[in-house]
Amino acid sequence: MAVSIIVGAQWGDEGKGKIVDMLSEKIDIVARYQGGANAGHTVVIGDKTYVLHLIPSGIFQKNVKCVIGNGVVIDPAALMDEIAMIRSFGIKIEGRLFISHNAHLIMPYHKLLDNIREQGAQKIGTTGRGIGPAYIDKYMRAGIRVVDLLDRNVLREKLTRNIEEKNQILSKVYGKTEIDVDKIVEEYQKFDSLIDPYVTDTATFLNDALKKGKRILAEGAQGALLDVDHGTYPYVTSSNPTSGGACTGLGIPPTSVKAIIGIVKAYSTRVGNGPFPTELKETTGESLRSIGHEFGATTGRPRRCGWLDMVSLKYSMMVNGISEIALTKLDVLDSFDEIKICVAYKKDGKVLKSFPTDVQTLENIEPVYKTYKGWNETITGVKTWKKLPKRTRDYVETIEKLSGVRVSIVSVGARRDQTIVRK
Ligand code: GDP
Ligand code: IMO
Ligand code: MG
Repeated sequence: MAVSIIVGAQWGDEGKGKIVDMLSEKIDIVARYQGGANAGHTVVIGDKTYVLHLIPSGIFQKNVKCVIGNGVVIDPAALMDEIAMIRSFGIKIEGRLFISHNAHLIMPYHKLLDNIREQGAQKIGTTGRGIGPAYIDKYMRAGIRVVDLLDRNVLREKLTRNIEEKNQILSKVYGKTEIDVDKIVEEYQKFDSLIDPYVTDTATFLNDALKKGKRILAEGAQGALLDVDHGTYPYVTSSNPTSGGACTGLGIPPTSVKAIIGIVKAYSTRVGNGPFPTELKETTGESLRSIGHEFGATTGRPRRCGWLDMVSLKYSMMVNGISEIALTKLDVLDSFDEIKICVAYKKDGKVLKSFPTDVQTLENIEPVYKTYKGWNETITGVKTWKKLPKRTRDYVETIEKLSGVRVSIVSVGARRDQTIVRK
């Protein structure tokens, strides 16, 4: 039994795509377990950059099979575009991509409602990909699943019922134009033959693979602090990126999990709204953004940047059960004379004992920093732990000491080969 879970330990964009691609070399199956096309996972191979939204980041290793699990919400149009994009690079997808028959679908009205809600009083700063409204329908038991796409009559019946209800909301609540049932039915009925070759009972597929001793990597999207249960609610996504989500999102038992790898960026970023205790609004934040190219892989929005936050990270270690850390983008700190780590939160002069997940408290805390001397050297070409500057190693070891978790992988550049795996 061998499942390793890859979780984003912060607010997403930690470099999950890069680490999944690199680890996939020794893996049989990579499986996405939640989220949808709100994710943007970047893989850089040689001088080519690929951004994946739904297809697992193991697709570039030709012997790896890829699964989109039941916990993912799939936009069929976005998926077909991504399949075409992958094929255009000469990558074979037939016989390698497996899509859960139980995954829910994102429909045009989900995207419409997502964007309309964002214009209202509560602005989350979503990606506009229809994620929240699609998960609402899933939990309302009104969702349309991949299996429904394969039966034209069932699809028509469910779409008609859903669109009639959405039209009430669109016109009566938001004063918007109603959508045309027939147009959407016609548009989505065509996906049945396109998606059919990939549809599988992926839970059985994965459990059979486990019995045969195959190695599985569960690829999370987003990050723990965006988790709908454990994140900075309501400024979160609508799924469970935390490690527990891998079991429900794939139908694999918790007993099959042997490692939980937390992807941690060497500093912090956040896209969209919501509390961000270590955010740097002035020049240091701008430097992190420009050196780290911190612009959203899905929406192109500038990412908010700040120092590493050990308080939220320790909380993330706890709720995920992270057994090892892959520390990414360490090279982005190369030119900083001083590097800070937030080691505690204070409120009304008192140090808080734990990470508060309520916005009211989080927005009013004062971060307490420790300052470390930078290494002022370029580390992107370094291949071994021993060859890293002493101050760089000290920074990594400080993170290990403060978090209580070993840093087993250090990433010093976007490319596959810019990775140091510690023995
Ligand atoms: P994900 O959503 O967690 O997969 O991360 P994204 O792909 O959205 O964002 C990470 C960005 O950092 C991408 O542009 C990667 O190519 C890049 N990246 C990943 N690891 C490193 C690294 O160690 N150093 C640098 N400089 N860039 C990295
Ligand atoms: P990856 O997998 C960073 C953020 C959005 C917004 C909030 C809710 O690339 O790390 P949603 O569209 O999910 O309803 O938006 O979550 N968000 C992400 N931030 N990385 C992501 O994915 C994200 N996916 C969603 O910016 O704040
Ligand atoms: Mg991303």
